[in-house]
Parts: sequence; C-alpha cells; structure tokens
Amino acid sequence: MAEIRRIGILTSGGDCAGLNAVIRAAAFRAIEGYGWEAIGIRQGTHGLLARPVEAEALDLAMFSGTLMRTGGTILGTTNKGDPFDYPLSDGSRADRSEEVIEGYRLLGLDALIGIGGDGSLAILRRLAQQGGLNLVGIPKTIDNDLAFTEVSIGYASAVEVATDALDHLQPTAASHSRVMVLEVMGRDAGHIALDAGIAGGADVILVPEIPYRIEAVAAKIEALKAQGRNFALVVVAEAVRTESGEPVTRRQGGGTVTYGGIGDYIASRIAEATGAETRITVLGHLQRGGMPSARDRLMASIFGVHAVDLIARGAFDRMVAWSDRRAIDVPLAEAVATSHRIDPQGPLAHTARGLGICLGEA
Ligand code: F6P
Repeated sequence: MAEIRRIGILTSGGDCAGLNAVIRAAAFRAIEGYGWEAIGIRQGTHGLLARPVEAEALDLAMFSGTLMRTGGTILGTTNKGDPFDYPLSDGSRADRSEEVIEGYRLLGLDALIGIGGDGSLAILRRLAQQGGLNLVGIPKTIDNDLAFTEVSIGYASAVEVATDALDHLQPTAASHSRVMVLEVMGRDAGHIALDAGIAGGADVILVPEIPYRIEAVAAKIEALKAQGRNFALVVVAEAVRTESGEPVTRRQGGGTVTYGGIGDYIASRIAEATGAETRITVLGHLQRGGMPSARDRLMASIFGVHAVDLIARGAFDRMVAWSDRRAIDVPLAEAVATSHRIDPQGPLAHTARGLGICLGEA
C-alpha cells in the first residue's frame, strides 16, 4: 500500500451549507489523526488547471472558530469548466484533463478527497481513472439525488430553509386569503419539495416524479375553501413541467440556462381555474447559503472522518455514504451512474397522501 503523506481536498459543483464543516473534519482527521498534510485546492478542478496550481496548506488554526458554522466553501467551487470539454476564450472547446492530472502531481498529492454532486464526482472519477489518482468522494448536493446514500451534505439545511419559508408564508396567506406558491430547487428531483412540503404543512406538493393535473390542484383548493379555509400553500419543485410537458427555464446572466419559472405558471393556472388570488415566492439560492443545520454539520463530520479513514486503508474509488444509521462506502462508479428520485409509491409520497396533501394526481 502506497504511503500517504499529503492529501488534497476540493469542493466542486454548486455550493451548499455544510461544505466548510466537511473540509474541517477531513483536514482535522488527516492532520491530527494521521500526521499528514492537507492541501485545500481552490475552485474545484480549476485550481488544478491553474499554473501555478491554486492551493494552500490547511492548518488547524483555520478551523478553530466559526468556520464549521458558516455557509459556502472557503475553497471556492465551480459548476462550469468540465476539463474534458473545457470552453476556450475563442469559443472552441478542448480536453484539458491531462493538465488537471498534472496539477495533482505538481502538488505532490498521494490522494484526493472530492466533495461533489453526481456531475462533479463523475468528472473527478474519470480524471482519477485516466491519471491513476487516488480518489475518495463525499456526496454533497441540496438536491439529494445521489444514489446509495440516504443523505448528502447540504440537503437538510435546504429543507430547513424551504420549511421556514412555508412557516413565513402561512400567516400572510391567511391574512390576505391567498394561495401562496413556493418554487423550490432540486434540479430533476423533488426531494426538497416533498420533505419541506410535508414539514411545512403544504396543501399541494408538485414534484417532477409524479404527473399532475391542474384540475386536481384546483379541486383541492376548492375543497379547502368549502371547509372554510381561506388560504392554501402550494410547493412546486423547479423541474415540474407545464401541463403540455414543457420544462420551464430561465436564461441567467452569463447565458447559463437553469430551471426557473414553473411557480409563475402554476400560480396563474390556479388563479384561472379557481379565481383565487395567488402570489409566488421563488426561494432560489437561499436554499444553498446560510448556516448549516445541526444535521448537516453532523453528517459533514462523519463523512469527513470516514473519507480520510478510507484513504488510510488504501480504499480508493469509493464514495462515503450514510445508510441505516452507519457511515458506509460504495463504489464511486455505481454512485455516479445511478440517480435517486422520489418513488411515487414510497414512504414519503404515502405520508403526504395520508395527510390529505394533494400531489396533483387525478
Ligand atoms: O444542483 C444544485 C442546484 O442548486 C439545483 O437545485 C439548481 O437547479 C442549480 O443547482 C442551480 O444552479 P446555479 O447555481 O448554476 O444557478
């Protein structure tokens, strides 16, 4: 087994709450537990592409104060610039993967911890396979769509934010007799919408995994009215489509196209169908920032320590995971090849139906 002296840590893909707590845990375990050096790489794989390589030695004094409590990532991150298909300034694209691999070697790394979602972990794995890098992955994504782990870092905090938003919307909805539509993130998975909708007392939850009919949503709102209720709370996941099956997207500054706007569509369709006064809240990146919840800090600590222990055992090409109240690890290849979506017949959908929450079904 190769001797380990120096490991790299990078965060990649969209940020989320809890990343700094992971960096702290991994650095602490590496430095204190094994006497290794821990190098923080800046801006994901971009730091390894830059010359000189953009990285710095992590030191325990950095982690003694507020860092584990803060959102974002001290290392920076990126969800652009796939090194296998890297956009160049003249508009063309190039494979710069060998430069990233060279960056790992220039830093003298013996192993790398990549903290990412499915897309970034897939890229990191491809780099590791090509360059013989010793990689361990830690799952993070507010979307919670990585397979083989019950939780990913950032998810619990995002659900807290969305639940808190419903707590804030309910009194104003009741004061004005309105239907409040809350649009939440989650990319192609509806986990945030379903969990926060249940926890926040939503009346209607629409997720991409369960087809909806606006007539069913309108019927639920009419039924609430008939029972004397003067407001309703509707949660809609960003990847829910229009009734004709079109995704609703928005071109952001810089040209990137993201999901965004389905809340407007659903709110106007509800208003047309019921005559209700509607208002829309798009929660957006509020779900990614802020202090990590206690649950996220705990999972970050567990994952960070476990990832370093895997390196010490020479167990590479693995992703740490949480299953049945235990930290486990699974083959990275399998984790990035499978996606975890809502099971329309699963326990959470069952719970929602059991509470009388309308999932938009006929
Ligand atoms: O994958 C995390 C996520 O926040 C998604 O829920 C969302 O669709 C997307 O990233 C937003 O990406 P960006 O940060 O590029 O706007």
